[in-house]
Amino acid sequence: MKSVVLSNGVSMPRLGYGVYQVTKAECEECVLEALAAGYRLIDTAQSYFNEEVVGSAIRKSGVPRQEIFLTTKVCLEHYGYEACKASVEASLRKLKTDYLDLLLLHQPFSDCYGAWRALEEAYEAGKVRAIGISNFYPDRMVDLATFARIRPMVNQVEVHPYHQQQEAKRWNDKYGLQTEAWALFGEGRGGVFTDPVLLELGEKYGKTAAQVILRWHLQRGVVAIPKSVHRERMEENLDVFDFTLSGEDLARIAALDRGRSAFFSHTDPNMVEWFGRMVEERRERQDAAGETKNR
Ligand SMILES: NC(=O)c1ccc[n+]([C@@H]2O[C@H](COP(=O)([O-])OP(=O)(O)OC[C@H]3O[C@@H](n4cnc5c(N)ncnc54)[C@H](OP(=O)(O)O)[C@@H]3O)[C@@H](O)[C@H]2O)c1
Repeated sequence: MKSVVLSNGVSMPRLGYGVYQVTKAECEECVLEALAAGYRLIDTAQSYFNEEVVGSAIRKSGVPRQEIFLTTKVCLEHYGYEACKASVEASLRKLKTDYLDLLLLHQPFSDCYGAWRALEEAYEAGKVRAIGISNFYPDRMVDLATFARIRPMVNQVEVHPYHQQQEAKRWNDKYGLQTEAWALFGEGRGGVFTDPVLLELGEKYGKTAAQVILRWHLQRGVVAIPKSVHRERMEENLDVFDFTLSGEDLARIAALDRGRSAFFSHTDPNMVEWFGRMVEERRERQDAAGETKNR
């Protein structure tokens, strides 16, 4: 698998496999299939509630741990120094490993500075090979990159042909952060898989619209982590290293940018409120479960 080199010298595969919205029931089989197909980067998160299953699949796969680039993300309810530190240990336990390749802060809210100090400490202790952030838009990213002791190495943000994040990528490049795309197909929203331009380019190279999108990410230097629960699509999504989009093709894709999220903006105060309510509800559920257990 071809790699990019992060600012700290660590190599990261340019293409990986994401397990958001892969149910616990199907996740083990999916990760086993993805590893068998040739993926060597697995992207999970504490808030996907499938870290244990990902860890079991990696163990069962027989692929040596050092060949796999394993990413997880700290969820908001574990922000702040102490909670984040404890959650990193919990993720390591669940993933059945003594180190992570990449650990990200999932959202740019709450006490991310305390949480970042816990990530810096885990990095210096050798528990994590690289640390980074997710959904930090340029102002938040520059703030952390400027004032933190250790500068983040990766910023994982929504990027797809309808939301190309030109400006965010420029800022990430300026500060030496690798841009990694989530929803790199926009989860198919807006008809991206049947977009006439992408279909036409696919026809030109004997590829699907999905493969054209992946090739576009690779040629922009963006790491992509497609999710699919289907083996044939996992393979299709890896089969993108035998063609090159021309400058004219890239210009046509650049013109598809609608300049807005297919989901929501992390700079929308209504969404920050929504995240606040979500954290509260999760805490209440956890407290209720704890009370039931203690009774
Ligand atoms: N940091 C964050 O906040 C954040 C947020 C969202 C996601 N992520 C990460 O990014 C990963 C990817 O994002 P995502 O899962 O939201 O969306 P995505 O990869 O853009 O799209 C996944 C969708 O595309 C379909 N698909 C995959 N390959 C296809 C192909 N070749 N042809 C047609 N359809 C195809 C999948 O269907 P099937 O599964 O049915 O094949 C699924 O419905 C996640 O799994 C997660 O690891 C991170």
